[in-house]
Amino acid sequence: MLGVRRKIMVAVDGSAVSDKAVHEAVWLACCQDGKFKNKIFAVFVKADRLRDYDDMFVKGVAAEGEINERWQQILDHAFLVIKKLAAEKDIPLEIIVVEGEPAASINHLAHKHDIDLLVIGSTGKGAMKRAFLGSVSAEVIEHAPCGVYVVRA
Ligand SMILES: Nc1ncnc2c1ncn2[C@@H]1O[C@H](COP(=O)(O)OP(=O)(O)OP(=O)(O)O)[C@@H](O)[C@H]1O
Ligand SMILES: [Mg+2]
Repeated sequence: MLGVRRKIMVAVDGSAVSDKAVHEAVWLACCQDGKFKNKIFAVFVKADRLRDYDDMFVKGVAAEGEINERWQQILDHAFLVIKKLAAEKDIPLEIIVVEGEPAASINHLAHKHDIDLLVIGSTGKGAMKRAFLGSVSAEVIEHAPCGVYVVRA
């Protein structure tokens, strides 16, 4: 519907695929020539999966302060592209970081913010090479409270 602001949520995990998803989300947000600007919510879920990002932490050698610093670097990197593109295109952006299980948290946030469309990568940071879907995207699709746009790797 023209003139109605749409709420688009993009799930980022710092992978190249989620950066592709960010580009698509921005493109979708720019598509509508309405009175109001669409809004993008970018969400990163801090799961107990730092091992996806850094082998050092698997071995348990990092101190608490180091871990927090590493998380901050990961978050800065994960949100880099969406922050840049949203600023360039003047799209309202809300950054959300939560702790929890990724798929359930993403779907919960989509429901909570009354999101119109979720944008997600087919795969992400996981090391395992899959045919199409990672475990997070598969579960998001299954339980999402709205439509899901899956961006292929
Ligand atoms: N922790 C997360 N926070 C936000 N979005 C995420 C998170 N993990 C994954 N995603 C989103 O889901 C997409 C698919 O990632 P997924 O984790 O399903 O695949 P994978 O990492 O290749 O496989 P797996 O994690 O099952 O080993 C990512 O491109 C991203 O959009
Ligand atoms: Mg993953």
